[in-house]
Amino acid sequence: MGPDAASDAAAPLIETVVTTTGRDGAVNCAAMGVRWGETELTFWPFDATRTLRNLRRRGEAVIHLTDDVLLFVRAALGDPRPPVRPASAVDGSVIEECSAWREVVVCEIAPVSDGSPRSRVRARVVASGTGETPQLGLCRARHAAVEASILASRLAWLGAERVRRELTGLQELVDKTAGPRERAAMDYVSRYVAQRT
Ligand SMILES: Cc1cc2nc3c(=O)[nH]c(=O)nc-3n(C[C@H](O)[C@H](O)[C@H](O)COP(=O)(O)O)c2cc1C
Repeated sequence: MGPDAASDAAAPLIETVVTTTGRDGAVNCAAMGVRWGETELTFWPFDATRTLRNLRRRGEAVIHLTDDVLLFVRAALGDPRPPVRPASAVDGSVIEECSAWREVVVCEIAPVSDGSPRSRVRARVVASGTGETPQLGLCRARHAAVEASILASRLAWLGAERVRRELTGLQELVDKTAGPRERAAMDYVSRYVAQRT
């Protein structure tokens, strides 16, 4: 492992939106935590995700940083189709409104050692760019909506009572500090949970 790879392994886990391309050419968006290294990114898609299926088939993706928490929660819980344009170095799609993106080529897809139904994907950065939307910085309401979306995505195994209780606490943060986009994201999560409980 060279010095770059060593520092990449210690990189923080950043919540991103990953675009991949399906068999039919459809662009798929998925929320995913990614170890954000300089030269290599690592992430852990579940075996049941379209993202992993597409990566196995095509071996390429574009990974985005975004402040748009409504896009993020929809990428976690739904199937958003934001405006995109072709990537420059891979056969993939860059989301028009993002803060930054990295185009990646998969180097390895390996089973994880803890036996969970997901794979570890290592991918090399082959191109990158920054969008016109600058990153705004830390925001409690945005963080709350991201946490809410994680809870909602785990509804089946956490149970409705626990998820509803934790959403109530997170809603307080949103009520105190949100702008319209954060409120819309939290509403999206609440509706998702209400429709399934
Ligand atoms: C904060 C956050 C992080 C997530 N990280 C992952 C992840 O690392 N791996 C994964 O498979 N799903 C992750 N998810 C869930 C996926 O976004 C979700 O399963 C999505 O529907 C997968 O989409 P796909 O089937 O279109 O690929 C995460 C969700 C949230 C809210």
